[in-house]
Amino acid sequence: AETARGWGEAVTVEVTDGVAWVTLNRPDKRNAINPAIVREMTAVLDALEGDPAAEVLVITGAGEAFSAGQDLKEYFRETEGWPPHERERLFAQNAAWQWRRLMHYRKPTIAMVNGWCFGGAFQVLVGCDLAITAEDATFGLSEINWGIIPAGIVTKSVSMVMPQRDAMYYIMTGETFDGRQAAEMRLVNRAVPREALRGEVEKLAATLRQKNPHVLRAAKSAYHHVRQMGWEQALEYLMAKADATKFRDPEQGDVKGMAQFIDEKRYKPGLGAYDR
Ligand code: ACO
Repeated sequence: AETARGWGEAVTVEVTDGVAWVTLNRPDKRNAINPAIVREMTAVLDALEGDPAAEVLVITGAGEAFSAGQDLKEYFRETEGWPPHERERLFAQNAAWQWRRLMHYRKPTIAMVNGWCFGGAFQVLVGCDLAITAEDATFGLSEINWGIIPAGIVTKSVSMVMPQRDAMYYIMTGETFDGRQAAEMRLVNRAVPREALRGEVEKLAATLRQKNPHVLRAAKSAYHHVRQMGWEQALEYLMAKADATKFRDPEQGDVKGMAQFIDEKRYKPGLGAYDR
């Protein structure tokens, strides 16, 4: 059935307890991103966006790798002979799923970094709202090692989340770093022992599932927009966004939350979510 919906080979999806586990599934090729993954991830994001059973998305990789980045053979070399407009369409579709789609995705997204993470995989990592890695995962901006700059939108992505000295160091040396270092430089939220990785992600997903999904969507999108604005515009935008969010909130969460705190004294908003 999944193949009929456009995926199932290069990407697999399993939905359990409100969480969609989206797995890049080319373990023999270290989940290098080829045109099939681009096509299937586009279909997966389309399908899960409208699937009420999928409340939180987790992106991870099968086998030893999260992803070894773009597939040097199938994504770069073999597309050189394509008609330019088709190659450009592939690249645009790739930027869409790895970055623009993910960043403003209607549901919360978590990158679960289970192993090798190189080059283009950083776009996916930064495109996800949150990231948890295995301590022993290996990261690298390896582009310099084969003679290109971190393009796609990788350089922009890392400049948004990594401190300047770290970003420049790894862009220029192509050296690898591990999950612990990734957490120290805040490229990910947390690094945990490998055996605890899935459990940590499940816990984080459970926390997100308790929150108002409509408000989560507005909050993450607002974050990305205000980073590009001046203070005056940000205030105007946020006040308008808050009104729009409240106006369209199907569960009128703030009214419930306020009543549960002030009138019913049932919960403390400082310490957890209202009862949905
Ligand atoms: N593109 C194409 N094929 C790849 C890629 C890739 N990015 N990464 C791994 N593979 C393939 C290998 O060619 C090999 O294929 P084969 O079995 O047909 O020979 C298979 O995956 C396994 O790879 P190994 O190198 O044997 O695996 P190993 O576990 O020893 O090493 C590592 C893993 C370190 C990830 C290594 O494969 C590697 O350096 N890959 C390239 C990483 C990289 O620089 N990615 C590009 C970043 S730049 C960008 O994304 C724009």
